[in-house]
Amino acid sequence: MGVKLGILGLGTVGTGTVQLLQDQEGRHLLLQEIEIYRVGVRSLDKPRQVELPNGIVTTDLEAIVNDPEIDIIVEVMGGLEPARSLILTAIKNGKHVVTANKAAISRFGAEIFTAANEAGVYVMLEASVGGGIPVIQPLKQSLSVNRIHGITGIVNGTTNYILTRMQTEGSDFKDVLADAQSLGYAEADPTADIDGLDAADKIAILASLGFGGRINLQDVYCEGIRQVSKTDIAYAAKLGFVIKLLAIAKGQIGDNSQLSVRVNPTLVPQTHPLASINGVYNAILVEGEPVGQVMFFGPGAGAGATASAVCSDILNLVATLKTNTPKPNPLLACSHQHYCQITP
Ligand code: NAP
Ligand code: HSE
Repeated sequence: MGVKLGILGLGTVGTGTVQLLQDQEGRHLLLQEIEIYRVGVRSLDKPRQVELPNGIVTTDLEAIVNDPEIDIIVEVMGGLEPARSLILTAIKNGKHVVTANKAAISRFGAEIFTAANEAGVYVMLEASVGGGIPVIQPLKQSLSVNRIHGITGIVNGTTNYILTRMQTEGSDFKDVLADAQSLGYAEADPTADIDGLDAADKIAILASLGFGGRINLQDVYCEGIRQVSKTDIAYAAKLGFVIKLLAIAKGQIGDNSQLSVRVNPTLVPQTHPLASINGVYNAILVEGEPVGQVMFFGPGAGAGATASAVCSDILNLVATLKTNTPKPNPLLACSHQHYCQITP
């Protein structure tokens, strides 16, 4: 029997996901086990870039998460509500969830993972941070034995794309933002990118994973790139720096954990590894003991890159369902750890 997917959203990421699932040649054989069963959208009148059998696309998203035939819900609609309620209903109904929604996870992660724990289902979120970069699973699994001291990243593709073009072409902020939107990098409301909120969601998730606590979003200091001018960028270059929007979590875990989590435009020395990360690319530098420095790098946004992360999560779940092998849920492991205290 195939594994049935209910996909919530057929925008940039949803379309990329369907395209990837439909284009199976030369990819993992388990893709053959997947059936796109229902797809939920807001409007049935919009032209779509994918062909799906008649009757699959619906505006009734409640019906999808309540459909007993569906095994996995893929939430790529974004936003807080109704995404949160739909995810919780899906979990209550015993469905596994794959989500790209960092805004919902950073705010409601505790509620969502507690519900998933109780229901015995998995919530996978690789696409929520870093687009196509595998960082969630490596941080929680391959690096899990380390004491993490710092996570520093360029985690927003839109702003890095804008800053790069302002720096290399002297482009105007507004023109470049329009390009980032047309390329599918920006959020539905691009102020989330520009004002650093998207990066704040992502560093809250990474810090929760790396430091093993629950990071409250309101404790993350957040400043975006609205005030950065072409003149600032030119002066920075003369002094040997580039301006990057960095998301930073630094501190120590232990009984008296002290953690500082922030997002702000930063003067980065031109010789620093993060200085050369340009365009839509993201990079996340993790510092741990004993591993030292590990850097993750790759395309941070866009349909194909993000679909790669979404579909890998789907495949992991399919493998789990097909073989009945338990696979550690990346965030469930957090629940038994202490809370970190944030220093402003
Ligand atoms: P998008 O292009 O705006 O697509 C959103 C999709 O969800 C659309 O198909 C829309 O339907 C549907 N939708 C939204 N609200 C709905 C509602 N209330 N009821 C029914 N359908 C609804 O967004 P996106 O860029 O694909 O992003 C989706 C998620 O992935 C977000 O959480 C985002 O943060 C995350 N993400 C995006 C990227 C990226 O590069 N874009 C990368 C990583 C993660 P209609 O098509 O009918 O309007
Ligand atoms: N708007 C986000 C960005 C999408 O530009 O990084 C990827 O999460």
